Amino acid sequence: MIQDKYAEEIKGILARYPTKKSAALPLMHLAQREYGHMSREAMQEVASILDLDPTHILSLTGFYTLYYEEPVGKYVLEVCNDLACALKGADEFAAMASEKLGIDVDETTADGLFTLKTVMCLAACDRAPMLQCNLAFHEHLDEAKFEALIAKLRAEAASGKMAPSVVEKIAAYAKQS
Ligand code: FES
Repeated sequence: MIQDKYAEEIKGILARYPTKKSAALPLMHLAQREYGHMSREAMQEVASILDLDPTHILSLTGFYTLYYEEPVGKYVLEVCNDLACALKGADEFAAMASEKLGIDVDETTADGLFTLKTVMCLAACDRAPMLQCNLAFHEHLDEAKFEALIAKLRAEAASGKMAPSVVEKIAAYAKQS
């Protein structure tokens, strides 16, 4: 239970906000750091700490794409397919990425390395097709660049020198704020 394991950290988070409800997002980051994703149990725990209905935490999880309702791979590939990017081929790009990885959108490769997602505008509309991988932007993409990115990430993983996962990175940012 995060309430027991991180009692001091939770106390510190709650102290930063005027109401318990306002602390929902940082507590969700903490829960996601602990469990790897926002499982139903994690949502219930956070809701219980904040005296909120779990459906409130569920709605936040569904709204913000950096919270995950299902476990994700080490690399989360988030292709923007919002309108501006769609006009520049984002849907076709996402389909190509899906085929190359052998998974559908919202699935994770069997080796646990890659999760593919489509997301709303990431504010790089003039640089489509683009994706965000563990919070880093990759822009003006095409099939060759995507293959090169995947090869680079596979090599990084094989070397044992992987950069922090997206969950670890978000948790680090949340701790600083
Ligand atoms: S629509 Fe894709 S980054 Fe804005």
